[in-house]
Amino acid sequence: MTTGPPRPVLKDKKALVVGIANEHSIAYGCAAAFRELGAELAITYLNEKAKPFVEPLVRKLEAPIFAPLDVSKPGELEALFARLATEWGRLDILVHSIAFAPKEDLQGGLLDCSAEGFKVAMDVSCHSFVRMAKLASPLMKDGGTLFAMSYHGAQKVVPNYNVMGPVKAALEAACRYLAYELGPRGIRVHPISPGPLKTRAASGLRDFDLMLNEAVERSPVGELVDIMDVGFACAYLATPYARRITGGTVYVDGGVNIMA
Ligand SMILES: NC(=O)c1ccc[n+]([C@@H]2O[C@H](COP(=O)([O-])OP(=O)(O)OC[C@H]3O[C@@H](n4cnc5c(N)ncnc54)[C@H](O)[C@@H]3O)[C@@H](O)[C@H]2O)c1
Repeated sequence: MTTGPPRPVLKDKKALVVGIANEHSIAYGCAAAFRELGAELAITYLNEKAKPFVEPLVRKLEAPIFAPLDVSKPGELEALFARLATEWGRLDILVHSIAFAPKEDLQGGLLDCSAEGFKVAMDVSCHSFVRMAKLASPLMKDGGTLFAMSYHGAQKVVPNYNVMGPVKAALEAACRYLAYELGPRGIRVHPISPGPLKTRAASGLRDFDLMLNEAVERSPVGELVDIMDVGFACAYLATPYARRITGGTVYVDGGVNIMA
């Protein structure tokens, strides 16, 4: 007789979730889905201003580790992983669900994006994932799963997505290369591409409500996705049932991406 995966399926798994700003955040959907399936959580908050919005969610999710993380502050990422090493000694799942571009650079076209704005957007929204993968991989002693949130604007031109298009394209390419480099160590890497969701980050995009309307009209499923749809898709990919899946962009968008 063979023994299958444990029940619940993420029982005893240790998951770091980066990117919860409030209860609307995609990262919160991931954390809630992992918790429902038995995982133990480490959750970060951006800074003291953001902390009170995240703290009640951390209590709800019974997360034993709650730590500050601004990826643009030297040393904070290293301090977080040092704490994970001390308190957990290992890690199974990591979610990178953060993005940033200066407003003036985000709201203009790519041609008008400043060099500094491009650099900041690329560093916070893409290279920080590579840094996280580097620090997480030694803790993933029995393999693991890394997730990064992308968007369809990485692959096709989405009006008003501007500089974030090239940045997300780089993020998806980084996921493929990391999947290749980490695959031999049993670590799988998934770029996730959710459909549009009304979150704080999305409110920085010009005409975002039009993007929502269009997503409903164009979706074969005829409905917007919600954060739990994204969370449970990630949860599935973190289970042994998905152990041969890595590197490819996984759309959680009700099928919008297949439409002409
Ligand atoms: N909302 C959408 O329609 C949508 C669709 C596809 C992909 N995404 C992506 O999903 C991810 C999460 O965004 P969201 O929509 O949940 O919005 P959100 O505003 O809830 O989350 C964005 C998070 O990024 C964090 N962040 C920004 N700069 C940071 C820094 N320097 N260090 C650490 N954290 C930082 C914020 O604190 C916040 O928690 C982003 O990568 C976004 O591009 C969003």
